[in-house]
Amino acid sequence: MTDALSPQTQTTPGGVLSPPDDDPTWWRRAVIYQVYLRSFADGDGDGTGDIAGLRQRLGYLAELGVDAIWITPWYMSPLADGGYDVSDYRAINPEFGTIDEAQELIREALGLGIRTIIDIVPNHLSDAHPWFQAALAAGPGSPERERFWFIESDEIPTHWTSPFGGRTWTRTTNPDGTPGEWYLHLFTPEQPDVNWGHPDVRAEYESVLRFWFDRGVAGVRIDSAALLVKDPQLPEVAENPGPGQHPWQDRDELHDIYTSWRAIANTYPGARALVGELWLPDVSRFIRYLRPNELHTAFNFDFMACPWTEPEIRESITMTLAAHEPVGAPATWVLSNHDVTRPVTRLGRVDTSFAFEKKQFNVPTDAQKGQRRARAAALLTAALPGSLYIYQGDELGLPEVENIPRNKLNDPMHYQSGGTDPGRDGCRVPLPWEPDGSSYGFGPDGATEPWLPQPHGWSSLSVASQKREPHSMLSLYKRAIRLRAEDPSLRDGDFGWLELGEGLLGFVRGTDFICITNFTAQHVPLPAGNAVVLTSEELVDGELAPDATAWLRRTTAAAATTPIDRMWERQ
Ligand code: GLC
Repeated sequence: MTDALSPQTQTTPGGVLSPPDDDPTWWRRAVIYQVYLRSFADGDGDGTGDIAGLRQRLGYLAELGVDAIWITPWYMSPLADGGYDVSDYRAINPEFGTIDEAQELIREALGLGIRTIIDIVPNHLSDAHPWFQAALAAGPGSPERERFWFIESDEIPTHWTSPFGGRTWTRTTNPDGTPGEWYLHLFTPEQPDVNWGHPDVRAEYESVLRFWFDRGVAGVRIDSAALLVKDPQLPEVAENPGPGQHPWQDRDELHDIYTSWRAIANTYPGARALVGELWLPDVSRFIRYLRPNELHTAFNFDFMACPWTEPEIRESITMTLAAHEPVGAPATWVLSNHDVTRPVTRLGRVDTSFAFEKKQFNVPTDAQKGQRRARAAALLTAALPGSLYIYQGDELGLPEVENIPRNKLNDPMHYQSGGTDPGRDGCRVPLPWEPDGSSYGFGPDGATEPWLPQPHGWSSLSVASQKREPHSMLSLYKRAIRLRAEDPSLRDGDFGWLELGEGLLGFVRGTDFICITNFTAQHVPLPAGNAVVLTSEELVDGELAPDATAWLRRTTAAAATTPIDRMWERQ
């Protein structure tokens, strides 16, 4: 890749790399592409995606038109949970590359106008982290143990259930073989929770933020952002805990942590963004994290989990926009990520909603319907106000891979559920780049097989195949992202609903941009007086197919004669 820095990159007088400082609100409307590094592209042929592979494919991301990439954890880690078990934040896992390569990647991406967001995991560390190893070695009552949640007890300290299923405490063994203290891990036993009441923890994470901001990252995605603080009394979870009363979720003390993180971000040029992973059903609590001195944005999981019906999607959008308005934060639109079922598969099912508790093997899906809906959803989300996240492979319409042999499954969620939950491997299968080759071009030909097996029949889904195909999912994404970038109405323009009748979801952006999604089972005519900009399915006699979205622009003549909300009536 190019060594020369484009004018979009700047280096501060101290030689520190920084994203450009000319667009302080980039994060309000950015298109952010999520790179699950392990599965993106394998540069060195060891079967695992890496920084070298990502650097080789930056041109693809620039062509796709994304403003930023969010890279899932790439630090030193035993990979007990795909890297969400960090043993050293200041080093890169050798399977993925080196710190110099990370730095070069950030620089090269900036050269192409792409900012880099990294993933910070503040709820827990790896059990291989030197702090935890020191805590185990130092024994009960030691200051080293105070950085975690070690408890002396004959019984398990609480009966909290892990988000992965199962218990949240593991008992240590003393050097003489007798049972020792318990330690807390909301996720796997290899991910001990840190104690946010301890000053070392606060100081260390603040130092990690600075370490990466100094290396030019434009933002941080905050993992499990609502879980860090625990009630030190360690009570059981009440049946309906009141706001802020849950012992390990959404505790009020969290806001102080994020206020100090925001203050750090604000000291850097180039508008460094904090993005929260907040799974909170209570939107009034969710929105408190987006107050002006806290996080910039947070993932909108309500929308992501929403079933594919017109009233429910409308309600979710209305609620989202109304909730964000008072705090002045932009909404985010997310169709999937590395934890959830791929949209093509989910949207083809009878139950199109998403919930972790509902995941099971062998749920039938209608692949064609899923593809159509995923295309319609792509255009719908790209037209909404706020920032847009695209999980790698969704732009190719990859389905969830549901037939990975059981002995190849890797995800601890599968194992911790006792094997009933299929886990999250199905959305993490390495990307197909070429129609042929031993791993569809994921790695060099003849390289070690990918860490998760790819299914047969992915040739036509490969990047190279879809590039040649004007109606492919990739071509649709590319055109949508380009149009969105070019059209000021799709950035910060106003939003208003159109009342188009049952099963039709329509809205206006700015003065003349219209988006209509057809949730009915019939073809529907489009309102006259508009130019068709882009559709997710070809129009048939000018009509929009079921499960399709159309982008329209009012022609000047129509705009002069018909108010926008009356156009439909003229049919
Ligand atoms: C977040 C991540 C997920 C990880 C978990 C524990 O939910 O997205 O992949 O397993 O946190 O770190």
